[in-house]
Amino acid sequence: MVFARLTSLVSIALIASQAAGAALTKRVTCSTGHVTADAACCKLFPIVDQIQQDLFDGGECGEEAHSALRLAFHDAIGFSIHGGKGGGADGSILVFNATEESFHANGGIDDITSRQFPVFQETGLTPGDFLHLAAAIGTSNCAGAPRLKFFFGRPAPLAPAPDLTVPEPTDSVTSILARFADAGFSAREAVALLSSHTIAAADTIDPTIPGTPFDSTVGTFDTQVFLEVLLNGSLFPGNGSQAGEVLSPLHGEMRLQSDFLIARDPRTACLWQEKINNQALMLSEFKAAMSKLQVLGQKNLVDCSDVVPVPKTLSGSIKYPASFSQSDVDIACTDLPFPSLATVAGPAPTIPPVPGS
Ligand code: HEM
Ligand SMILES: *[C@@H]1O[C@H](CO)[C@@H](O)[C@H](O)[C@H]1NC(C)=O
Ligand SMILES: *[C@@H]1O[C@H](CO)[C@@H](O)[C@H](O)[C@H]1NC(C)=O
Ligand SMILES: *[C@@H]1O[C@H](CO)[C@@H](O)[C@H](O)[C@H]1NC(C)=O
Repeated sequence: MVFARLTSLVSIALIASQAAGAALTKRVTCSTGHVTADAACCKLFPIVDQIQQDLFDGGECGEEAHSALRLAFHDAIGFSIHGGKGGGADGSILVFNATEESFHANGGIDDITSRQFPVFQETGLTPGDFLHLAAAIGTSNCAGAPRLKFFFGRPAPLAPAPDLTVPEPTDSVTSILARFADAGFSAREAVALLSSHTIAAADTIDPTIPGTPFDSTVGTFDTQVFLEVLLNGSLFPGNGSQAGEVLSPLHGEMRLQSDFLIARDPRTACLWQEKINNQALMLSEFKAAMSKLQVLGQKNLVDCSDVVPVPKTLSGSIKYPASFSQSDVDIACTDLPFPSLATVAGPAPTIPPVPGS
């Protein structure tokens, strides 16, 4: 125990970048053998393993991973650049859960906070560090995802966020863009953040069909959701039409009214369409917007991004779900060419629900 602090830090090396005149990059080798940017990050490596084991079933892109990302949004967006709307990415939703879970937009969030709570307590991290690290790890479990950044050192949250900071699927595009702008995000960043809906499903929109995905590939972080939200809808996947839901193109798939409108609004349609089959663009914009979202209201954090697992990459083009083609696309952006895509063979699929929902 006496030597714990000495052994936690084996060596420090300064490695000069190849580029002339570039800044020196500090590297630290932890006692676990991991290399990272700052000795303060060393303690996180075993915690990452623990979170993978105890929260994400050993590293899966399942229900918990999806919900951990949604939770990071609902926590962080409790913030305004003008003040008075909460402490941002502070973990308030985890510890002031009784208050924040009474807000309508947080329906179903209690599943993931109650699942996270005991793991949060095991780690000894602050609520904000735990919740935003868990979101970065959970996202990294999804093939194709960006390796999100993680900044470390949030103090404990002071108070719950007030109600009405989280957008609802029944909101207009004008009100959604205004809420994002109030939190400091452009329309481009708002659309980038909606890339998250590629690993998303709804439990509460239609409670008769929990775990109904927003695209046909809910276990991969691909651009499929940007394509499928533009397909002409024809059915409701569950018990008829629900608030916040519009016609879906596929059995077993849920379409949010907000995604439908943002994909077709003149302010956002081209920002939406340009991500179809452009994985690199989606990833770079999503990663940048997430790194802003996950530090809202925070200061003096240490960059511990090295602790985030490296996601598996995807290759190849996305495809239309079987039986669909460009003639089914409700094209809303006329300034850009629509990508040419192949179609999966076979009859129109029924999308299965996310297990464990
Ligand atoms: C216009 C803004 C947004 C609206 C209206 C919206 C709405 C929704 C709704 C209604 C659900 C389904 C909840 C349920 O019934 O279980 C959902 C799920 C989800 N949302 Fe959003 N969302 C928005 C933005 C975001 C953002 C910015 C993120 C993350 C960066 C995000 C991540 C997710 C994820 C990952 C899920 C799936 C959760 C799961 O499968 O357990 N959403 N969203
Ligand atoms: C809410 O927080 C309390 C601690 O204040 C915790 O015991 C409980 O499990 C949490 N419940 C949910 C639904 O997150
Ligand atoms: C289905 O929807 C109808 C009409 O909205 C409602 O009366 C009924 O209770 C719903 N059924 C279930 C199982 O939720
Ligand atoms: C979408 O469906 C509507 C009504 O079912 C139809 O009028 C419209 O032409 C369709 N659009 C496309 C692109 O298939």
